[in-house]
Amino acid sequence: MEFSIKVRGPEKTRQACVVVGVFESNRLSTAAEAVDRASQGYLSRILKRGDLRDKAGATLLLHGVPGVAAERVLLVAMGKQDGLGERAYRDALRAALRVLSEIGVGQATLHLTELEVKGRDAAWNAEQAVMAALAEAYRFDRMKSEPAKDLPKLKTLTLAVAGRAQVKSAEAAAARGRAIARGMHLAQDLGNLPGNVCTPTYLAEQAKKLAKEHGLKAQVLERKDMEALGMGSLLSVAKGSDEPPKLIVLHYNGGVRKAQPVALVGKGITFDAGGISLKPPGDMDEMKYDMSGAASVLGTLQAVAELKLPLNVVGVIPACENLPSGRANKPGDIVKSLSGQTIEVLNTDAEGRLILCDALTYAERFQPAAVVDIATLTGACVIALGHATSGLLANDDGLADELLAAGQASGDRAWRLPLFEEYHDQLKSNFADMANIGGRPAGTITAAAFLSKFTEKYPWAHLDIAGTAWRSGKEKGSTGRPVPLLVHFLAGRAGQRRDGVKDAPTAGSQLVGT
Ligand code: BES
Ligand code: MN
Ligand code: ZN
Repeated sequence: MEFSIKVRGPEKTRQACVVVGVFESNRLSTAAEAVDRASQGYLSRILKRGDLRDKAGATLLLHGVPGVAAERVLLVAMGKQDGLGERAYRDALRAALRVLSEIGVGQATLHLTELEVKGRDAAWNAEQAVMAALAEAYRFDRMKSEPAKDLPKLKTLTLAVAGRAQVKSAEAAAARGRAIARGMHLAQDLGNLPGNVCTPTYLAEQAKKLAKEHGLKAQVLERKDMEALGMGSLLSVAKGSDEPPKLIVLHYNGGVRKAQPVALVGKGITFDAGGISLKPPGDMDEMKYDMSGAASVLGTLQAVAELKLPLNVVGVIPACENLPSGRANKPGDIVKSLSGQTIEVLNTDAEGRLILCDALTYAERFQPAAVVDIATLTGACVIALGHATSGLLANDDGLADELLAAGQASGDRAWRLPLFEEYHDQLKSNFADMANIGGRPAGTITAAAFLSKFTEKYPWAHLDIAGTAWRSGKEKGSTGRPVPLLVHFLAGRAGQRRDGVKDAPTAGSQLVGT
């Protein structure tokens, strides 16, 4: 799909469809007013009949509007005029794009993007519009014997902005929106693929392919390499499965050579049956999504490479399956992590932290400026924050604030939970340095507290995406989150570090010895 930005009014250009907004009680937007004027009041006469409902996202398609060059005018209800909010704007975008794909037009101009959304600018509007258009065009039909036939035919989408001054920033935002959407689609494809296709080996192949296509450097550590390093925790999870584990490392070097990289560490459990602490069968199929953290790392790296962001990023993906077998971890087993700390595996279903801890220790060797891990880590996070918001925990306030802001800016939000000392008490073990579970209370926090024992050497944040990475029910599927948050975070970092000089550690940072 092609995107372009324009300033001109909706009535003059000859095209298949123009999309204009109408506020509650038939108040016309500037673009709708222009259509109304050109058609000598035709629009207001139609609206008086009450066919367009008030609720944001309602639509009314008009053909052959007099005085207007476009074949069709699509009216979209935007809700209240004063204080058009993000939610209403996005609902309206989605509804408009749905209609455009249903009627099968090849080209259209969106005037919704020139509206004023509370607290947002033209760039944000354009980025969201591009993302909505590409999301509407996403299908996962690879595993069907016939490809989807309902693909939108939209080839060119023009986005209107209110004035010349906004064209440049809207263009940049459209490019970012496209890179984010493509990164999300990569993450969604990987998430939606079943466990028998998307194995650790498959993830490693996809990483190599990504590296080849985008000039990244890929390295894959095999079981024997991990044994030599001493990744006893990660390998203890992997040994319950016949699929060989992989530790995937990807380098994107867009910054100067001496600039410390940001490391993204993604949980890559390609299927989580729970191991000997077997999960109940209902919905167990959804545990194919347990590699969504890994998928978001790949999707983000692709976007960052497409945008040529001037910074260095390392992706680290521990990948394996968590299955029960005669060789699997048993409750009570004690394993030794790469850090040297020993772990009592009281529940084999708390496997994410067991593979992440070794990957987080491994990340030390890159002397990262910051490390963010992304994981479908706890069911408790779904209970705490639902499906709208990712959980965020961090040992560094500056980094946490950057991620919160990136979530806010991208509309892919996170919310911070505390990591107070007290929570570590729940992880005490009589037999090893720590247990891998902390009981029912504060399950998301104790999981992060466990990880924090492996991240003391750098500023670190953890995103628990158990609730946000996929949808269940009728619309079951991967969401591609938190790629938007991560791309915004890295774009912010790239902006701050154009000179390649590393920032002083922020207050509360635990950066030592690098
Ligand atoms: N992958 C799951 C977390 C999960 C559960 C994500 C449900 C999405 C929906 C993780 O490996 C897991 O099983 N966590 C356990 C931890 C518990 C044993 C301490 C959980 O959340 O139940
Ligand atoms: Mn599990
Ligand atoms: Zn898991």
